Amino acid sequence: MRISINRHADTPVYLQIKNQVRDMIFSDVLPEGMLLPPERSLAKDLEVNRSTVIRAYQELKADGLVGSQVGKGTVVLHQTVKKSSLAEGYINPLPWYQLFAETVTSSNDNIIGDIMAITGSDNVISFAGGIPAPSLYPIEIMREIQSELFETANRELFLHSPVEGHYPLRESISYLLRQRQIVAAPKDTVILSGSQQGLDFMARVFIRPGDTVIVEEPTFFGAIQIFRSAGARVIGAPIDKEGLRTDVLEALLVRHKPKFIYTLPTFQNPSGVTMSLERRYQLLNLAYQYQLPILEDDPYGELYYESTPIPPLKALDRHGYVIYLSTFSKSLFLGLRVGWVTAAPQVLAKFAQLKQMTDLHVNTPAQLLLDAFIRKGCYERHVAVLRQEYAARRDKMLRALEKYKVPGISWDKPEGGYYIWCKLPDNILRHKLVANASKRGVVFLPGEAFYPDGTQGDTHVRLNYTFASPEQIETGIKYLLQAVRETTITAGNHENERNLKPLV
Ligand SMILES: Cc1ncc(COP(=O)(O)O)c(C=O)c1O
Repeated sequence: MRISINRHADTPVYLQIKNQVRDMIFSDVLPEGMLLPPERSLAKDLEVNRSTVIRAYQELKADGLVGSQVGKGTVVLHQTVKKSSLAEGYINPLPWYQLFAETVTSSNDNIIGDIMAITGSDNVISFAGGIPAPSLYPIEIMREIQSELFETANRELFLHSPVEGHYPLRESISYLLRQRQIVAAPKDTVILSGSQQGLDFMARVFIRPGDTVIVEEPTFFGAIQIFRSAGARVIGAPIDKEGLRTDVLEALLVRHKPKFIYTLPTFQNPSGVTMSLERRYQLLNLAYQYQLPILEDDPYGELYYESTPIPPLKALDRHGYVIYLSTFSKSLFLGLRVGWVTAAPQVLAKFAQLKQMTDLHVNTPAQLLLDAFIRKGCYERHVAVLRQEYAARRDKMLRALEKYKVPGISWDKPEGGYYIWCKLPDNILRHKLVANASKRGVVFLPGEAFYPDGTQGDTHVRLNYTFASPEQIETGIKYLLQAVRETTITAGNHENERNLKPLV
């Protein structure tokens, strides 16, 4: 039961609780016979006095909405009384959940939302988000460029940009792409509000309800959510240390006739795996053979910590089958909301059409700021700093994992990107781990979120090493592995299990 309390509102807290429960009863979110949480536990969850909940329940009882059942607790009653007679002029609340389109209501990933919501709070060490290190934001340089832009501002800064994006920025992106071995003219790119928008447009351009999309297993949860919202069946293809298993993929292509294949070949999210060159060619050949577009999502490719990485699929594709998405979110900051798609002209025309219908273009000052930042050479210098710092944080996390290691836990060293994908001991009480770790002030993302069918992945957790400071990494891993140890079933651990209280 989700109740939100506004402590600054004029309405007393007991009344806020009563009204929200009443609305849930009238909108059938709480159907007849549903047991309400015990007063004590609701009071604890909402961090209010027990007497406040008692008063709310008493009023609900007085209105005939709930009743006490011996041995059970407080239950929702059958509503024989017409709602309008409960109070003069009472208007039934809108039954929102009955009105929402299936596609939106079905994607209710609250666990991720809840975990992300506490990322950044004091006393929480977060390995959960895919967030760049705040201490490395290029604030000073951005400030200088921004003042220059505003001092010399001509109208361009305040006007609409072209739907496809500010042309000089598209030129700058061509320059950056060449360093990734992709040869693309400015006209081959459309600027987007982050690559998340690219995933959404992909779904809108290609997916009709009932179509199939093949994704890696595990994969970025945001993509699963978007494709599914468009009505797609999302089918997973396994990966191993060389990336997507192209031997298994072929059978899936034959069986499911997908609309496209979604892949993160370089420093994959969440596994950190990089697809080998051989697999890249095999994947391209399968795409050509079955005439299938490949959506290559590459937010992490330039964040390499060993040798320069294998070229993106887009660089190897000679026939325009690859639709390439990338972003500045991971190399600069998430709030910038600038990403792009580089693809065949037919696909770009559709993306531009959707861009125009959705939000016209990415905000003009952000595009100009970013373009100047790249042209002055600041971007390349910044990414070089990130490579050094993130390599150090990755190594710090690897060392901490080694130092506080528990039996049955294992991981691979990612050669770049943001994440370590950690395998848990087999005998762990997985559903308790999030709560147990968060009790110690550490959050991470559980593996299930990254699998289309949600039944796998509980063997793993994703640990981000870019956001937490080096000191926090050491402490966080120590606490996390303590939590793992305590949540692992061994004789004597059953007692601890009972006392866990979730933070999220
Ligand atoms: C694989 C992948 N694709 C897309 C995105 C979305 O990025 P953006 O901020 O550019 O929308 C993310 C962000 O975490 C990601 O990891």
